[in-house]
Amino acid sequence: MCGIVGYIGPRDAVPIILNGLKRLEYRGYDSAGIAIIKGGEIKIRRDAGKLNRLAELVHNSPISGTPGIGHTRWATHGVPSARNAHPHLGNSGKVVVVHNGIVENFLELRDELMSEGTDFKSDTDTETIVQLVEHHQATGLLLADAARNTFKQIQGAHGIVLLSADEPDRIVCARIGNAGGVVIGLGEGENFIASDIPAILDHTRKVIFLESHQMAIVTSDSVRVETLDGTPVNPQVHTIAWNSVSAEKGEYRHFMQKEIHEQVRSLTDTLAGRVDFKAGKIRLPELNLTPELARNINKIYIVACGTAAYAGMVGKYLVEKIARIPCELEIGSEFRYRDPIIDSHTVVLAISQSGETADTLAAMEEGRRKGATLWSIVNAIGSQAMRISDGFIAMQTGPEIGVASTKAFTAPLIDQYMLAILLADLRGVIDTKTRFQLVSDLRLIPDLVSRVLNSEPEVEKIAYALKDIRDCLYLGRGINMPIAYEGALKLKEISYIHAEGYPAGEMKHGPIALIDENMPVICLAPKDPWHDKMISQIQQAKARGGIVIAIATEGDELIPPLADHVLWIPETPWMLSPAVIVIPLQMLAYHIAALRGLDVDQPRNLAKSVTVE
Ligand code: AGP
Repeated sequence: MCGIVGYIGPRDAVPIILNGLKRLEYRGYDSAGIAIIKGGEIKIRRDAGKLNRLAELVHNSPISGTPGIGHTRWATHGVPSARNAHPHLGNSGKVVVVHNGIVENFLELRDELMSEGTDFKSDTDTETIVQLVEHHQATGLLLADAARNTFKQIQGAHGIVLLSADEPDRIVCARIGNAGGVVIGLGEGENFIASDIPAILDHTRKVIFLESHQMAIVTSDSVRVETLDGTPVNPQVHTIAWNSVSAEKGEYRHFMQKEIHEQVRSLTDTLAGRVDFKAGKIRLPELNLTPELARNINKIYIVACGTAAYAGMVGKYLVEKIARIPCELEIGSEFRYRDPIIDSHTVVLAISQSGETADTLAAMEEGRRKGATLWSIVNAIGSQAMRISDGFIAMQTGPEIGVASTKAFTAPLIDQYMLAILLADLRGVIDTKTRFQLVSDLRLIPDLVSRVLNSEPEVEKIAYALKDIRDCLYLGRGINMPIAYEGALKLKEISYIHAEGYPAGEMKHGPIALIDENMPVICLAPKDPWHDKMISQIQQAKARGGIVIAIATEGDELIPPLADHVLWIPETPWMLSPAVIVIPLQMLAYHIAALRGLDVDQPRNLAKSVTVE
């Protein structure tokens, strides 16, 4: 998804914006541009390609000045090109815009403007915004009011930032719906605007998050937030704990490898302050969960997309097994189209690293519309999913930069485990001994994860053996069936190898026809209630000539004679095993993709946060 950075203050905006855009590179993009105001004029540099192309343009034809805005674009309307790259300039040459989202009614707006003589220079929906603003300015309105009128006319979800050469002392920005965030960073005698926190962390940790249908007029020493109809808003100022160093790669080649190895720390952090080992209790205060609310629940829908959905599949097992509440995992992009049965006894629990995934937010809104209680498990503090929830659990993993999610997959597994225990405790459906045991098992997690990360050299050897494969099957059962899906997704999204996760028990109903000597089969066979079933699965795959890579529990003597390769995990309580068994699969996908020389952190066609439907 696109990245936005804006600056207003005494310093030259160009380096601040270019560095800020670099911190947003992970969001995926195909063109970039920057606009500044100097001497009453707007100067723009923009082109298709990556930020190094933009830096080359700025170097060859220098610009400097303040205020300024910059953008990295992931094309939705109009191919990646200089003419379609943001920023877009109005025909007067006095107003410029950068934009995240889609103007869903841009064709009719453009037709109206063209019938009044406005020429359009690009194929983008975004240009409609700046031409509309100029259309309103022509009636005598200043930038803020012209922008306000424009924001009311455009449909869809947007993050928008505007500059006017005639009003160089201010930046106007707005958030409408869920097209990614608009964050205002508060400096000393200077202010920043961005679509995501990492872009401004070098300058400030004090931020304001615009809510949907809010706009702000930002000068170097003031921020005025109001609703689109002009009602003043007194926004909350958040202080972000992250620092920009933690968003750097450290000693790792890629963010993804760093984040795989960060899971000891991130899982420790997701437990922090939430587990009372002495009392055998779980505390999730941001959920605002009371005993009566807990007893009032008769259905939980977990809604999510991609990797987050697979975390939710594990959550379904945990909530039903521990809390005995009917629970379904619903794919975010499907949920709102099946007229789900929801009432005041229903909880819709969203899982989202970014908290800005449009399909997940739309599923939450469907839940809200039908009277459900909304909860969310999110990583991005201040994200839309978090802000529209009645209660939330922060993943607390720190920034996840790699597009392929790793630590933001294992954190919600543990968050849902804790949630299930809390619900069971409040509903009185768990005995004290069981509760103490489940809580006590959480203490094992950081060490178990640390031990399995030590198997990386063995994983690299298997990655080398598999680096040229074209297909791969992942098989799992029970609580680890979702891990088969997740392992397959990790491989396909960063190595571009066709990989498929499957419930192992389903193989005999057709897919086993796929297995031959060219089909590696990754079998998840830890010591869990489905272990013996997986043994026979391995035998079935071997009998058809398949290459079997088994993930097994240390000390298991049955598997080595059956499998071609074995990756070991330490003995793990089965309800926590998904968070451990996924790690060799994360490392395997990473090393295969790295051996293939691919862009592991920014795979082709993907974005870190999918804020379009
Ligand atoms: C997973 O590796 C992908 N990046 C993708 O499936 C992701 O999990 C999905 O888009 C959901 O994103 P979210 O967690 O930010 O909502």
